[in-house]
Amino acid sequence: MKIAIIGSIHQSGLNILKENNFDILEIVNLEINSLKKELQEVDGIVLRTAELKENVLSKCKNLKIIARHGVGYDNVDIKFLNKNNIALGITGTSNAVSVAEHVMTMFLYLAKKINISDSLVKKGDFIKKNTLPSFFELYNKNILILGFGRIGRELAKRCLSFDTKVYVFDPFIDNEIIKQHNCIPIESKEEGIRVADYISIHMPLNEKTKNFISYDEFKISKNNLILVNTARGGIINEEALFQALKSKSILGAGLDVFENEPPIKNHPLLSLNNILLTPHNAALTLECRTRMSIEACENIIYFLNKNRKLNDKNIVNSNLIKS
Ligand SMILES: NC(=O)c1ccc[n+]([C@@H]2O[C@H](COP(=O)([O-])OP(=O)(O)OC[C@H]3O[C@@H](n4cnc5c(N)ncnc54)[C@H](O)[C@@H]3O)[C@@H](O)[C@H]2O)c1
Repeated sequence: MKIAIIGSIHQSGLNILKENNFDILEIVNLEINSLKKELQEVDGIVLRTAELKENVLSKCKNLKIIARHGVGYDNVDIKFLNKNNIALGITGTSNAVSVAEHVMTMFLYLAKKINISDSLVKKGDFIKKNTLPSFFELYNKNILILGFGRIGRELAKRCLSFDTKVYVFDPFIDNEIIKQHNCIPIESKEEGIRVADYISIHMPLNEKTKNFISYDEFKISKNNLILVNTARGGIINEEALFQALKSKSILGAGLDVFENEPPIKNHPLLSLNNILLTPHNAALTLECRTRMSIEACENIIYFLNKNRKLNDKNIVNSNLIKS
């Protein structure tokens, strides 16, 4: 069987595909017409961030599974896959730790303003340390986690180890589960935003979560707020965030994701010094890339071979496993 790899992945996944006698087709040309031609015969696709919509998918006559190298799948036409009995896999056990560590890095960098201390020393101004702006602890602060799935829970663990209070807003998770994780469930995002010193976002982007944090939310947030988004661009309204940072009505922000990726060259957020930006690489540590590559390829192998080792939770349209 033939598997297309769209976007490069760690060699370890390719090795196990080969060991299991799959033919590999590495796709580099992402133009629609080229994809339509190249994907015609494939049985499975490992997909990084390229978009696969009906115009291309309708040409894939043999396709049985798309395995996302990651957990979000807003780049795939899931309705088309459901209608045509094509499975969608995700790498549900691979990403959470790397993303949670990325958030901790952003929290600490922004709170400690560590870059300013670093450049002071490198400029030879060690003795001017009293001129540095105030910087802060995580200890005893209120953290608000929006979305308590795989990543939200890994982040909670790490925040609790810093002796913080962790508030969680996730209307789809039972309060008892949140309490079992030593976190405090809250009933509305507004309630959380009012008390939060740090906020991190871990929910999918959809009609309900678009602009989840916008002008109204910045009106009620604390002025020492540090806000981090590693989930999806568009959950925070970028214009509202720019105003909040520019007017210093919040302390800082960290973004790994943008409404449009890459952001345009003269995007207003790029001009600020109280924001930390990374290129959607929270999950791209070497360890995580290796795990994702293996997990995505195993999803394909186990699914196509109807192997009982398939992790059912990784198949988004799970009705297809039973058939
Ligand atoms: N930056 C990166 O590299 C990177 C890597 C992995 C995942 N992500 C993104 O991170 C996000 C979370 O991933 P995950 O693996 O934890 O997902 P998950 O599915 O395990 O958890 C998402 C949680 O969000 C909750 N949720 C949904 N709608 C909500 C709402 N309106 N209000 C509050 N909570 C809501 C769900 O109940 C669920 O518990 C996704 O958007 C994913 O695409 C980004």
